[in-house]
Amino acid sequence: MTTSPVPTVSLRAGAASVDMPQLGFGVFQVPQDETEAVVRAALEAGYRSIDTAAAYGNEEGVGRALAASDLTQQEVFLTTKLWNSDQGYDEALQAYETSVRKLGREVDLYLIHWPTPAKDRYVDSFRALLKLREDGRLRVPGVSNFTPEHLQRVNDELGEFPAINQVELHPYFQQAQLREFHRAHDIHTEAWSPLGGQGGEVLQDPVIAQIAEKVGRTPAQVVLRWHLQLGNVVIPKSATPERIAQNFDVTAFSLDGEDLAAIAGLDRGTRVGPDPDEFNG
Ligand code: A2P
Repeated sequence: MTTSPVPTVSLRAGAASVDMPQLGFGVFQVPQDETEAVVRAALEAGYRSIDTAAAYGNEEGVGRALAASDLTQQEVFLTTKLWNSDQGYDEALQAYETSVRKLGREVDLYLIHWPTPAKDRYVDSFRALLKLREDGRLRVPGVSNFTPEHLQRVNDELGEFPAINQVELHPYFQQAQLREFHRAHDIHTEAWSPLGGQGGEVLQDPVIAQIAEKVGRTPAQVVLRWHLQLGNVVIPKSATPERIAQNFDVTAFSLDGEDLAAIAGLDRGTRVGPDPDEFNG
């Protein structure tokens, strides 16, 4: 077994801590019938962290790729997410079983996909995730798309902040305030749509292009490197084998202070995805 070049972050997990690769592979919008091949390509390229969700409808494809690989369960960090219609204590426990059955193995990280504040069940859902951890079924309970207010309420009611929050984050939406809140409470920041989403605008940005030319890398590699240097966990999605490999090759170069400052200047504060305070679907 070769040693992965990818750094890890240490997630709080009750009395213990769990290492998670800082760079993983996301399968958002990968159709179920393509997922097995795409995840196999990612594992072959060296990724050792896979991020899916019940709502993506492709957990079985992920499971098939994992089952087909020679890698052990301990060697691949696996994330899935609780969908909004399954929020609540009993519902979350049930939904976890369904995901585990489809994936064919237990999960390392289980995220509440959206807070859905109008439903107001995220505290009960997180309590269920803590129970799964206590029972040794799940290693790390986490959340996605939570604002400081949602995170604070979980801590106030359950006595513990989630160890990680996966949110929209890219050079046009840098989430400085949220990242500061995370830092203050030992919550890791994980970025979805790390490349700025499908519109591709971030990857066309002239500032990014200039840095890419300077360091002799592609715009996507520059953006992923920026995430890693900020300390974000990052899970780029690609369905193209060449890009899957390219996105993994971001640990052997670095951006300097000038590059980082130039990218910091690109923030527009505009989302490509829904606002978590308003998304209750
Ligand atoms: P594709 O799957 O055809 O490679 P994000 O993770 O920010 O949502 O971005 C995902 C989008 O970015 C997908 O449309 C994906 O297209 C594209 N993408 C992923 N990697 C690269 C890359 N290295 N260069 C250009 N586009 C990329």
